[in-house]
Formats: sequence, structure tokens, C-alpha cells
Amino acid sequence: MSSFRILSTGSYAPNNIVTNSQLSEMLDTTDQWIQQRVGICQRHISVSETTSDMAAKAAENALQNSGVRPEDLDMIICATITAEYRSPNLACMVQKKLGASCPAMDVNCACSSFIYALDTAAGFFARGTVRHILVIGAERLSSIVDWKDRSTAVIFGDGAGAVLLGTGDNYLASVLNAAGNDEIIKIPDQPENSFISMKGQETFQFAVKSICADLQTVIRKAGLQPEDIDYIIPHQANSRIIEFAQKRLNIPAEKFCMNIKNYGNTSSASIPMLLDELNRSGKLEQGDKIALCAFGGGLSSGACIITW
Ligand code: UT7
Repeated sequence: MSSFRILSTGSYAPNNIVTNSQLSEMLDTTDQWIQQRVGICQRHISVSETTSDMAAKAAENALQNSGVRPEDLDMIICATITAEYRSPNLACMVQKKLGASCPAMDVNCACSSFIYALDTAAGFFARGTVRHILVIGAERLSSIVDWKDRSTAVIFGDGAGAVLLGTGDNYLASVLNAAGNDEIIKIPDQPENSFISMKGQETFQFAVKSICADLQTVIRKAGLQPEDIDYIIPHQANSRIIEFAQKRLNIPAEKFCMNIKNYGNTSSASIPMLLDELNRSGKLEQGDKIALCAFGGGLSSGACIITW
């Protein structure tokens, strides 16, 4: 069955950087606590850019030099929990900003959204109905963070990442999971409370468990061994989560990619932003096997393996 290959990548983060020290002036926290417990030094926070502004910039960045024009797109899929409107969805707003005319839809599975969105795209390629799909992860989490709550305010950041997909056979295997639970992480949609609330420890345990289980499953499904994987791009929620999973899986630490230090947790944007960073640094080589994995609200999780 045919699937897709990644033709190009792009990303965008707002210029405004907020350091841990700046946060410690407004919250009962310290640079040391945030770096040691979460691995974050700074995050990019939008001053006036909307989620669709950031998503469109990441998309334009991915389309640049790809030879694919907005009018060549057959679909736009946005992974997000922070679209500026309930309707139109984020993908329609991006479609308008790019000047594209294709179908456009959103996927909401919290931090796992980008993995779900890639798998959704894979379905269209398998049916042979598309040639180019733009998949974007974009979040303005600063708009749903309670800036008085130190347990969440220090964690999240804003940004967007995009991948342009074309026909190919490079999507090797995937796994998606959901276990309905509104006790551990939620963002209520109520006038008096629409902020992220999270039980940190429980989420941490779920995260480590799901990374390990999902990576093992997807490696097996692809007919590979752990040593065949060149890079693992995990959702950037906490560097300690990644380190715990790495030790439990006994895969060399240098294969686990991280940029949480500079961006914080950008939910569905974290994987495509990191993928773009690695791509632009020239680190990825044709034929590399790359595993992506994510976990978050839902509770949801997922992983996939792509040949570069
Ligand atoms: O992307 C979606 C999925 N999200 C995640 O995967 C997040 C998973 N969870 C985590 O990353 C971590 O649990 C947190 C970063 C949220 C919290 O770190 P922790 O090491 O689990 O801390 P904790 O909640 O166990 O709290 C330890 C202490 C507490 O103080 P006491 O009770 O020991 O006196 C907290 O009140 O740290 C305190 N604390 C802070 N101290 C300074 C909590 N937040 C802060 C803070 N600065 N910002």
C-alpha cells in the first residue's frame, strides 16, 4: 500500500522570548527548579500573533524551495488545541492565508495531535486521492495558561511546525492510542475557567509508560529492531520524561532528540518544530529511520516510523 514521504519541513516561533528568570519575577519559582525538573531555559511567547499566523508562517517556510505551490496542495491538516476560533477551524484559516483552495481540517488529540494528523494523512495517500498534503502542528498555549499557576505556566510555549508530504513509501508503521480520562489533564471550556489543568506526576508516569510501549510496538510493526532506529523525536514535555524512557528502553541517549530547553512544551507543534530543526541542521540523511512519539491529554498517545 502506498503512503507518503516528507518532501520538506518548516517552522516558526514568535520573536518574543521569556526566560525562566523573567518568570521567577512574577511567580514563586526559580530558574534552577525549572531547568532541573523540566529541562527548560526559555520559551517563545506570542505577543500578538495568532495560532493561524504562526501556522501559516511555518507552512510558507515548508513550501519555500519545495517546488510545490499552495494551489498544488490537496489537503491541509492542522494539529492543534488552540485554534483561534471554534469555527472556522485552524486549517481553513491557514488555507486562506496561503491562498490555497484544498480541503482543510483540524485534528485535536492534545499533544498527540501531530501523530494522529500524520496517520490521517497516510489514509488519504493510501486511497490514492492526494498528491500533496501539508500537515501543521501549531499552538498558542500562552492563551490558555493560567499565568498565576506556577505548576503549568513555566512549562508551555508557543510555535508551529509543518511538513509537506508527497507520495512515497516512507511511512513504515504507526500506532495510536486513547484512554478517555478527564481527571489527569484537561482544558475546560467554561467562561470562568478555560485554563490548562494537569496532575503533573500522573501525567509524567503515563508519558514514560506510553513512550516505551508505543515505540516498542511501532518498531515491531515496522519489522525493525531498536538498533535500526537512527533518531527518536519524542514530544518535548519534560527532558526527564525522555531520559526515563531512554533508560527503560535501553536505546542510546544520543538517538533521543531534544530542543525543549529553547521552546518549552509546544504541544502538537513540538515534534514538527524539532524535525525541522534537525532537517535544517543537515543531521538527517536519506534512508535514516526516524521514530516519532507523543502523549498527552485524552489521554492519548501515538508513534510512527518514517524513512528519511
Ligand atoms: O504535554 C502534555 C503532557 N504533559 C506532561 O507530560 C507533563 C508531565 N509532568 C511533568 O513534567 C512534571 O510532573 C511537572 C514539571 C509538571 C512537575 O514536576 P515534578 O517534579 O513532578 O514536581 P511535583 O508536581 O511533584 O512538585 C514538586 C514540588 C512541589 O512542592 P512540595 O509540595 O514538594 O513542597 C510543588 O509545589 O515542586 C513544587 N513546584 C514548583 N516549585 C518551583 C511545582 N511547580 C513549581 C515551580 N517552581 N514552577
